[in-house]
Amino acid sequence: MAGGVSRATVRSLGEAGEDIEQMVEDVRASLLGVPKDLSPWPKYFYDERGSELFEEITALPEYYQTRTELSILQEKAPEIVAYTRCRELVELGSGSASKTRALLDAMVAGSGSTSDPARARYVPFDVSESALAGSAKRLIEEYPTLEISGFVGDFDHSLERLLARPRSGAFGRLVIFLGGTIGNFAPERRRGFLERLRTGLEEGDYLLVGVDLVKDTRVLEAAYDDAAGVTARFNKNLLSVLNRKLGGEFDPELFVHRATFNREESRVEMWLDSTVEQEVPVASLGLEIPFEAGEGMRTEISTKFTRESIAGAFDEAGLRLLDLYTDDEDLFGLALGEPF
Ligand code: SAH
Ligand code: TRP
Repeated sequence: MAGGVSRATVRSLGEAGEDIEQMVEDVRASLLGVPKDLSPWPKYFYDERGSELFEEITALPEYYQTRTELSILQEKAPEIVAYTRCRELVELGSGSASKTRALLDAMVAGSGSTSDPARARYVPFDVSESALAGSAKRLIEEYPTLEISGFVGDFDHSLERLLARPRSGAFGRLVIFLGGTIGNFAPERRRGFLERLRTGLEEGDYLLVGVDLVKDTRVLEAAYDDAAGVTARFNKNLLSVLNRKLGGEFDPELFVHRATFNREESRVEMWLDSTVEQEVPVASLGLEIPFEAGEGMRTEISTKFTRESIAGAFDEAGLRLLDLYTDDEDLFGLALGEPF
């Protein structure tokens, strides 16, 4: 096999230390607002337990996204890799990177030959160190010629630094953002994110973004409220994160999980509703957070797109939508874009 020894590194982009202060700041405003709204901070879901629960969600019968996105990737990866001439794959919010293999297979098949000697490189980026270390370890065993350069960091802080790293040779770079994660950002946040991403892209770079598509309300709500209760556990795990990191005293038993499709905003919203009137102390905030009986706290939004809305979001950020790959039922889309 061409390419020599395999290499994998996982480094931090140097944000450690500011974590708790940042969290105190983020969460304080969220818990004092009306309604209480933690949805601007999806990253706090993904401690080790949260990452595990998310992996369980991806295998649920109601959660069609992961298997649908995988099937689109399996079908289109050779075409995408050939078109973008990609030798470096940068993945934002890579998690377990289980679907990425479809693209890596196509990349590795074309690289390292005499006519095309550049070694394929994979650059996963995630806030969850446990997810990143686990995926790097598995991938390095599966792809002996692949170079893996992983980074632990927050894409709100380190996107620029991640993309400013020197690229490998004159070959194309493809930045991927799968799993519909972009849908977890509110519109202004998404705009800022895509603009910063656009700034880091050069001519010849491409972007591939997984977006969940608008569909029947029942299908959408079931995907975020499964019969086995895994998504409810994922949602309530956020309370455990607040308890552990900020000295909170949330009792997960006193909250119920709720998922509703808000058609006006085109997004599923996850909530935790307090079943009783209560005051919850959170030591690091120096606050007692009051809840009325039945009062909800929004914890996550998941925006659902149409071809028009994703084209519009790309356009606003200086990105041209080249193609939207979908499945036969138009459940999920992969939007390929380039900077203009
Ligand atoms: N791409 C995977 C995982 C999606 S879940 C898939 O498609 O299945 C969202 C991922 O984004 C998680 O792995 C989470 O740890 C990561 N993430 C969430 N917020 C982040 C942030 N602010 N910066 C970096 N990664 C983040
Ligand atoms: N981004 C995905 C989505 O919105 C994954 C996800 C984030 C998710 N939070 C979730 C899935 C909560 C289920 C429940 O679907």
